[in-house]
Amino acid sequence: MRMYDIIVKKRSGLALSEKEIRWMIEGYTKGDIPDYQMSAFLMAVYFQGMTDEETAILTDAMAGSGERLDLSSLPGVKADKHSTGGVGDKTTMIVAPIAAACGCTVAKLSGRGLGHTGGTVDKLESIPGTRTALEKEEFLDVVRRTGIAVTGQSGNLAPADKKLYALRDVTATVDSIPLIAASIMSKKLAAGSDCIVLDVKTGSGAFMKTVEDSIQLAQKMVAIGVRNGKKMAALITDMDVPLGYQIGNALEVEEAVRTLKGEGPADLTEVCLALATQMLHLADKGDIDHCRSLARQAIESGAALQKLADMIEGQGGDPDYVYHPEKLGQAPFEGVFQAEESGYLAKMDAEGIGVAASLLGAGRETKESTIDPLAGIILHKKTGDAVKKGETIASLLTSEEAKLESAISRFGEAVTIAPAPPQKHPLIYARVTAQGVE
Ligand code: URA
Repeated sequence: MRMYDIIVKKRSGLALSEKEIRWMIEGYTKGDIPDYQMSAFLMAVYFQGMTDEETAILTDAMAGSGERLDLSSLPGVKADKHSTGGVGDKTTMIVAPIAAACGCTVAKLSGRGLGHTGGTVDKLESIPGTRTALEKEEFLDVVRRTGIAVTGQSGNLAPADKKLYALRDVTATVDSIPLIAASIMSKKLAAGSDCIVLDVKTGSGAFMKTVEDSIQLAQKMVAIGVRNGKKMAALITDMDVPLGYQIGNALEVEEAVRTLKGEGPADLTEVCLALATQMLHLADKGDIDHCRSLARQAIESGAALQKLADMIEGQGGDPDYVYHPEKLGQAPFEGVFQAEESGYLAKMDAEGIGVAASLLGAGRETKESTIDPLAGIILHKKTGDAVKKGETIASLLTSEEAKLESAISRFGEAVTIAPAPPQKHPLIYARVTAQGVE
């Protein structure tokens, strides 16, 4: 078999055979297929798509590219969540501890920043000492001791996704339904949980810009999970505007902690409660109303915050940063973006804001780029708010002063001020399960 022929076949819009997909994933994982050929293949998939059958085989080949975790030795129902990625999306640091505080066992495999979106692994690494490349035994040990651990794709868990994810990030091949579905579900299948809740983002800052595409992606992932014996639910949530007010790694840790203390922004709190409720419901903790009150209590009692601290400590970090996130520090250089006219913030293009955060150092431009943990954006106003000319809409923070100018200009392109307030978007559009779309 030749990778060249597989690229030509996909470029021509033909479906690949199971043998071809498995051969390609094995060869790429081993390093026999170079990045440049895989990049060409990914771009062909981006334009030509994949059938449901091809996507299911790709997912299975990626999940089987390394070890599959057996969580059966751990107590409790194993529950997991995954987001398709957004700007200011710090939900894992809130939802996973809530679920663990309510008795679920959370053994989660997360990713790094991708494209204009942030990743949980980069965010956790902004807490000094926190290790996110846990080997299997250590990962299971932290889960056994604390009920929760979040690791990146260390060693041998879905290594094909680790390589493909980094390659897609820098080759403009992220926003493809089959590639996202295979990436997310390969990690979920390799990590071995029983119940999986997907947060499928929709809007300008999401990889899926329309609700229809987001529902299609959710349905594909739910179907792959159900076929593999998992209990699945997906929420379609808004990502037309960044979630919460802080974007960037340490900044998001701080906002997540505030939300776990019950003092977070309304949109972030609501999305997290909704996701946690779905996780608890799938894990048979009760009906939806009961699960929502359990999730609330986990915040009000401080139990969820305690779980995050336990997890950080279990992964080598200093839990004091969870109780006092101000210790994470602030980037030395700050610029502001001010309103150029009075009116209402009619649009905040969340993707543009994610790109501005990345330009400040919060994301990567190449596979080798290092992250500036303190870089990012604090929004003072969000879509729908009234603004006066000269009022500060956002503070932009970085450790490299030279990065401010282009980031401020990119931020400015993402903001539209109009004389009238815009129409409000729902925060949660739909719930997708094997039974259908509600
Ligand atoms: N999250 C993932 O893990 N993979 C994707 O492709 C997109 C978001």
